[in-house]
Amino acid sequence: MQISKALIGALSVATAFLGSTAAHAEGEVNIYSYRQPELIQPLLDAFTKETGITTNVLFLDKGLVERIQAEGANSPADVILTVDISRLTEAKDAGVTQPVVNETINKDIPEHFRDPDGNWFGLTTRGRVVYASKERVAQDEITYEDLANPKWKGKICTRDGQHSYNVGLFASMIAHHGEAETEKWLAGLRDNLARKPDGGDRDQAKAIFAGECDVALGNSYYVGRMMTNEKEPEQKDWAAAIKVLFPNAKDRGTHVNISGMALAKNAPNKENALKLMEFLSEGEAQKIYAEQVFEYPVLPGVETSEVVKSFGEIKPDTLPLAKIAANRKKASELVDKVGYNEGPQD
Ligand SMILES: [Fe+2]
Repeated sequence: MQISKALIGALSVATAFLGSTAAHAEGEVNIYSYRQPELIQPLLDAFTKETGITTNVLFLDKGLVERIQAEGANSPADVILTVDISRLTEAKDAGVTQPVVNETINKDIPEHFRDPDGNWFGLTTRGRVVYASKERVAQDEITYEDLANPKWKGKICTRDGQHSYNVGLFASMIAHHGEAETEKWLAGLRDNLARKPDGGDRDQAKAIFAGECDVALGNSYYVGRMMTNEKEPEQKDWAAAIKVLFPNAKDRGTHVNISGMALAKNAPNKENALKLMEFLSEGEAQKIYAEQVFEYPVLPGVETSEVVKSFGEIKPDTLPLAKIAANRKKASELVDKVGYNEGPQD
């Protein structure tokens, strides 16, 4: 494996961040996270309050698996937190996780949301929904297929086609329709784009607010986070400009993905890591995920927040997560093949 200069730089930062003694000290757990600190902090605070175990978070926006591989047997990573089934399976396939067989976790998390070998566990689900302009879009129902209809020409905004949220959706299209039909669909969607893919999901809502497009793809929880954002109150205006449409509600259901966790292969604080993993699967944490992160909890019986309920009920596509992971590579190749990120060609 090639280790870039940037990675080596990042490694020395990590050592400084985690501290050589802190990483192995009693009463600590080290978390490598793709999830933004603001999203997981309320959960970690509740965990520390309950157990007295301190949490150290290393946030990365890419290269998490490569990082743990490069650290090898001395990796301070205990728990991996990430989103997307592909990233969870990637971590397993790269050999940076270890199997967990734990009664509490297995009781909490339904079987179809966990790896059969216990190498990863889903904690929440989220829908890849359509944000539609309240002002300019009259219809209240939509399908993903419909997004390629020329009636939306110049009216759709999305983030980067290679982002895992989009690749997951496109992979589900391949699973349902095959590669050739998905390629046609993706080219149609590309030609309906108002501009080159750019920004995050929230930026697409902002673009609808600004009148740059009428329809966008975005994850469900961002709407809740925009609606309640006191730090950047302008996001409330973006949220107010859109309505949430659950695509394919009348047929196969809306594409969903998961956020999840895994136990790192060489976890130095394994016992504390397992305590954290149990905690995240149980009621209090699942409630925080619902109420503060606006996701759908996997623990049966934990209600979604009132804010999320206000979007309407989601009917999740029941396509097995493994099928999404299996079609991910093909989906990513199609994004390049049709030049999705170049924007409209026709
Ligand atoms: Fe996200």
